[in-house]
Amino acid sequence: MSQAKSRKTLRLGIAGLGTVGAGLVKLIERQAELRLPGRLVVSAVSARSKKRDRGVDISKFRWVDDPVELATADDVDVVVELVGGSDGPAKLTVEAALKAGKAVVTANKALIAEHGIEMAELAERHNAHLLFEAAVGGAIPIVRALRNSLSGMFVNRVSGILNGTCNYILSEMLRTGAAYETVLAEAQRLGYAEADPYLDVSGMDAAHKVLILASIAFGARPDFGEVNVEGVAEIEAMDITLANKFDYRIKLVAEAFRAPNGKEGGGVKCRVAPALVRHDHPLAQINGPLNAVVVEGEPVGRLTFTGPGAGAGPTAAAVMGDLSRLFEGVAMPPLGMPSGDLKPIIAQQEASLDQGCFFIGARLADRSGVFAALTEALAEAGVSIDKLIQDSAGDTGAAPVAIMTHPCPRASVEKALAQVAEMEITVDAPRLIRIETRS
Ligand SMILES: NC(=O)c1ccc[n+]([C@@H]2O[C@H](COP(=O)([O-])OP(=O)(O)OC[C@H]3O[C@@H](n4cnc5c(N)ncnc54)[C@H](OP(=O)(O)O)[C@@H]3O)[C@@H](O)[C@H]2O)c1
Repeated sequence: MSQAKSRKTLRLGIAGLGTVGAGLVKLIERQAELRLPGRLVVSAVSARSKKRDRGVDISKFRWVDDPVELATADDVDVVVELVGGSDGPAKLTVEAALKAGKAVVTANKALIAEHGIEMAELAERHNAHLLFEAAVGGAIPIVRALRNSLSGMFVNRVSGILNGTCNYILSEMLRTGAAYETVLAEAQRLGYAEADPYLDVSGMDAAHKVLILASIAFGARPDFGEVNVEGVAEIEAMDITLANKFDYRIKLVAEAFRAPNGKEGGGVKCRVAPALVRHDHPLAQINGPLNAVVVEGEPVGRLTFTGPGAGAGPTAAAVMGDLSRLFEGVAMPPLGMPSGDLKPIIAQQEASLDQGCFFIGARLADRSGVFAALTEALAEAGVSIDKLIQDSAGDTGAAPVAIMTHPCPRASVEKALAQVAEMEITVDAPRLIRIETRS
């Protein structure tokens, strides 16, 4: 009988011991129960406060005040960056580690989305691993799926629900009928939203994630300035309720897709915005803080991935998956293709991409003639109405109205709504939301 080979050991330096970092330490302590090809040993850790109670015993690890120092320590083979932020200590730590030829595992979507090309070039130059599965979709193994398992697929579109906070808010607004502010406060109380929710509700967090997916799925240079971003703060509970009556759900959809060949010669378009999705669309079924990613292309068709997109356990498990990958050896280009071969994402918004069906939600002033004025403004702008619901004003003094248009240019709906604003027939700013008509 052959002797079992001795298992390889990787020595880790963990920078950042917050939600994810502490979750990772817990998992490492239980590694004997996992299915790792080798052994992980924590050599050193770094965070801001040495004294903070993290729910895990870190006294047995060497403490380093400066994460950059940890990144270059002789007893560290792999730097796990869990500090966060696109710049500052996180970036300095990753740069120092890659320059020293060390493997880096990070959950930092902001860093990869905003400096991905720079980091990938550095990793390739120094023949170092740079892995970031946990940066997108938490426990959903989508980065590796796109980079490796699906490299035989011509991807046409990647779309998803990539921010659990926004999805929780929109799901709860539908379930309870409560206003955005009320649901956001409840999400903060339950820990689904940060005290400062800006990155989540503005769509920026989802934009970081979809740009990373776009880069890998389409071989595109991640350029954060080219992502069109809209958040959820303007959506009213009435929009969600009335969209539901049309059998659609409102979701914050992050997507990247091949643009049709126009004068720019096609390219990849990347955007985050609320959208109405049909009740039978895979994204319509994703509720609460869950995430989902739909990958479409030839010759595979459509694949749907879903699961917890954040939290200590799911995110630490994704980091663990990357650590396990390191035992396989050879470093691959972090963005799938060598960074010099990546193509630019298209800069311009092509008019043809802003054609489609649209949802308009508004509250009409409770006086005669306003409804006719709204429909006339739409007709004059060449916008034809497919479906319409008008609710009673009750004692609120304003009647909720929801309209679904037939296909038309977005610019025509905007022109009509500009006229509506001039006529002062609504008591609020109407919401204009794209409709995803495909199921
Ligand atoms: N939380 C999630 O569910 C989740 C999901 C996916 C991805 N991520 C990503 O994972 C990363 C970590 O997120 P997190 O939620 O764990 O963050 P967190 O709870 O805020 O933890 C951040 C950690 O970084 C440390 N830190 C901050 N500034 C530092 C500095 N200048 N020097 C040394 N250490 C410093 C903090 O130290 P102290 O503890 O001493 O303050 C803390 O331990 C981020 O990139 C985030 O986007 C998080």
